[in-house]
Amino acid sequence: MARGWFITFEGGEGVGKSTQISRLAARLSGSGRTVLTTREPGGSPGAEAIREMLVNGAADRWSPQVEALLMNAARRDHIERTIRPALARGDIVLCDRFADSTRVYQGAAGGVSSEVLSILEELVIEECRPGLTFVLDLPAEEGLARARSRQAGEGRFEAKGLAFHQKLREAFVGLAAQEPERCAVIDAKGAVEEVAARIWTVLAKRAPELILGP
Ligand code: TMP
Repeated sequence: MARGWFITFEGGEGVGKSTQISRLAARLSGSGRTVLTTREPGGSPGAEAIREMLVNGAADRWSPQVEALLMNAARRDHIERTIRPALARGDIVLCDRFADSTRVYQGAAGGVSSEVLSILEELVIEECRPGLTFVLDLPAEEGLARARSRQAGEGRFEAKGLAFHQKLREAFVGLAAQEPERCAVIDAKGAVEEVAARIWTVLAKRAPELILGP
């Protein structure tokens, strides 16, 4: 199947995923790699339209069950239109959030059962699973303060309160522990360059072919 590399970034609000994705993309592109950066929910026109509905409005606008369905509908479109074609071309795909976010936000924190989420994953993702996942880890208070200061206007999930966000953090770290081959927890405290260096070190260890060239 795919010739490229599928790498995802996960974590709670305000942990710095998008900053780190841009830095890593620039570094890999600088060494001659073709990199596609994308995000979820979103990453294709149809999935971006679904994102609008998901990230705006009152916190209780959708139940976690409906969220899980909408996230997966968006994911399928994103895979079909963006991720799979890029991997088939041999690109490195860096994706801001993927199925682990559904496991954590709608599953661990929202109460949707892991059986239901597994069925949806099987239906929607099929073979298109990440080979490497960086879980950026930061105390919930710190991440939430950063996310709120951004004022990006997409506050639906940020409005859910500190206890919810603490649960997210624990769930992300727990999920990484269940799949240590795929997941690497990165301490997201400190300067942007320090966090970027931690990510690069893990990448060099787990996917040396991406660093060393063809
Ligand atoms: P972002 O702020 O990282 O762009 O993500 C948008 C929001 O969507 C964020 O609060 C997390 C949430 N989300 C889920 O609840 N489930 C998912 O499956 C995904 C991909 C995101």
